[in-house]
Amino acid sequence: MEHYFMKTKKYIIANWKMNLGLAQTVSLAKEFKKKFAGFNRGEVAVCPTVLALTETAEILKGSGIKLGAQNVFWEDKGAYTGEISADMLVEAGCRYVILGHSERRKHLFENYEEIHKKIRAVVETEKLTPVVCIGESLEEKKSDRRDFVLVDQLQQALSGIDVFGEQEIIIAYEPIWAIGTGTAIEPAEAEYAHKIIKLALNDLFGMRVNNKNFRIIYGGSINPKNVKGFVNLENMDGLLVGGASLQADEFYKIAKAITKQ
Ligand code: 13P
Repeated sequence: MEHYFMKTKKYIIANWKMNLGLAQTVSLAKEFKKKFAGFNRGEVAVCPTVLALTETAEILKGSGIKLGAQNVFWEDKGAYTGEISADMLVEAGCRYVILGHSERRKHLFENYEEIHKKIRAVVETEKLTPVVCIGESLEEKKSDRRDFVLVDQLQQALSGIDVFGEQEIIIAYEPIWAIGTGTAIEPAEAEYAHKIIKLALNDLFGMRVNNKNFRIIYGGSINPKNVKGFVNLENMDGLLVGGASLQADEFYKIAKAITKQ
């Protein structure tokens, strides 16, 4: 019988958002490669702009750092101007893809029906791990609807998705009100939300699949100082880092801290 607490591997994922162009991405990826040489305490991934995926893949060769994308489209191929398929991401060297980030939900009006289709397409490749973002807004938090919102988002995103074999699905709990503010939520609050997520996943997939295939990570203003509070949480499988991942040194400190046994 597998137990949740046996999942010791931590995931530390850098979301570089639309902050860096090609040349800057290449240079930061090289710094990451140097900084993380020999680091084997957890799974580290970087998610650069799609423009830089192939060059970043080249740079990361021979390092333990994995590559991720920030979005995908749900169809395989065809007349979908401007879109990129899951297979294309695999071909570019991706192992991860962030789906449904709140910035896409806000600025591009992405909804969970679309996110569901994207998860399905990603899982079908059997070669990519989706990092599915969920999280409440400030209004939802203030009106005490957080738990409902999280469960509802998970249901919409994941109901009816078949999860087989070794397929991993990472749920990133990103409270919208904590992103980019410089202040992360209290670790105890993150632990509480992760517990809600874990229970909802038990309902959707059963405990066995949940324990084996799902991971829950936190994102929102994590930095080398506040990361310490997140280290020993029971339901914490890692971090999705925005701002602090734009400095190799900061990100390395975060990765080192969260993987401390
Ligand atoms: P910050 O770490 O900049 O708050 O961003 C978090 C995030 O949105 C990661 O996806």
